Amino acid sequence: MKNPWARNPWFETVAEAQRRARKQLPKSVYAALVAGSEKGITTTDNIEAFSELGFAPHVAGLSAERDLTTSVMGQPLSFPVMISPTGVQAVHPDGEVAVARAAANRGIAMGLSSFASKSIEDVAAANPQTFFQMYWVGSRDDLLHRMERAKAAGAVGLIMTLDWSFSMGRDWGSPEIPEKMDLAAMVKFGPEGALRPKWLLEYAKRREIPDLTTPNLKPPAGTAPTFFGAYGQWMNTPLPTWDDIRWIREQWDGPFMLKGVMRVDDAKRAVDAGVTAISVSNHGGNNLDGTPAPIRALPAVADAVGDQIEVVLDGGVRRGGDVVKAVALGARAVMIGRAYLWGLAANGQAGVENVLDILRSGVDSAVMGLGKNSIGNITRDDVVMPPGFVRNLGVEQSGTASKAAAAGKAKPAGRRASRSS
Ligand SMILES: Cc1cc2nc3c(=O)[nH]c(=O)nc-3n(C[C@H](O)[C@H](O)[C@H](O)COP(=O)(O)O)c2cc1C
Repeated sequence: MKNPWARNPWFETVAEAQRRARKQLPKSVYAALVAGSEKGITTTDNIEAFSELGFAPHVAGLSAERDLTTSVMGQPLSFPVMISPTGVQAVHPDGEVAVARAAANRGIAMGLSSFASKSIEDVAAANPQTFFQMYWVGSRDDLLHRMERAKAAGAVGLIMTLDWSFSMGRDWGSPEIPEKMDLAAMVKFGPEGALRPKWLLEYAKRREIPDLTTPNLKPPAGTAPTFFGAYGQWMNTPLPTWDDIRWIREQWDGPFMLKGVMRVDDAKRAVDAGVTAISVSNHGGNNLDGTPAPIRALPAVADAVGDQIEVVLDGGVRRGGDVVKAVALGARAVMIGRAYLWGLAANGQAGVENVLDILRSGVDSAVMGLGKNSIGNITRDDVVMPPGFVRNLGVEQSGTASKAAAAGKAKPAGRRASRSS
């Protein structure tokens, strides 16, 4: 029997968006989004850890209206989700501009990667709530130039991502990605694209070919480097110290997030460096394999610094329920990566909006079922945490943070810190 929904572009879960992305994207593009590293321990744990947490719902006296709004780094969010920055992907010709428009239409903030395929000017024009993300690549002058350009383009915050240690190789194999899309690459990758006509058509309609340059890393004089050219420069850049982080934070006049913090001691150093926010994150499992899921590290980090800076989480979020679990354990909001990439691949801007709608309605259902009238009233008591769930990284085992986290101490979450620059 023919599937009556086969032509319906709408999908009901992120898992279905991923299935469609797999069908529609060339194999190597899909594999670049699956990413992960080494054995995939971390990518798996990021998702599985959410499944270990349960809810403790009420059945009567539920609130007819729920307030899902919050804010991060001074930006209002219609619900506690933001777009996490992801690098150049050739998922869709409109790329990050489509994502930014979808985010703007749904009232959420956009994080744009410095390795993205669209410029900060185009993305900030599509979503005025855009944060620009940088890695420590090049000289201090290079970094300053990128920040000044982002500021001039209207970026409302800076995200500095630190968790990258150049890990190589995956047991399931890494996709081959061309240096640039020249004739030789088109001949080589043509058959892959030809097997995915819908993806190819989107580019053909715009008379474009997938672009693998990084416009946001263009030096003041010269052309934008290719993805791999920029990656080479990054590998040759001396690694940043905490003094460097303090310095760069001082150079940015506005809200500043450090992304990739997993340890309590690092979170405290981030506070000392004057950041506005941190994201408890392991780069979606693409970095050091064996790092636990961020949701396991979150309680101790939130206990230690959640009253001084804003704490967000990213990694493994695929459902509205995951968002609420993160908020219950101390996050003010979450950032999503692959979830929106699957939506973008499945149905362009509308696909990203579809993903955001799924998450939003999942958040609303959970807040309703937990008997709360606001996301800000979610507490640790709302989730069921099995013994041994948390990982207290970088904290003295006798410290109060670890005791509180291990006990799953109930505490209002999500709206504690309000420092915004
Ligand atoms: C394909 C891909 C590219 C990424 N590129 C970047 C990047 O350029 N900058 C960055 O800070 N994080 C990058 N990340 C990490 C995401 O911002 C985010 O931390 C991660 O995807 C969250 O996990 P999730 O995909 O399970 O939601 C990337 C992640 C993926 C999957």
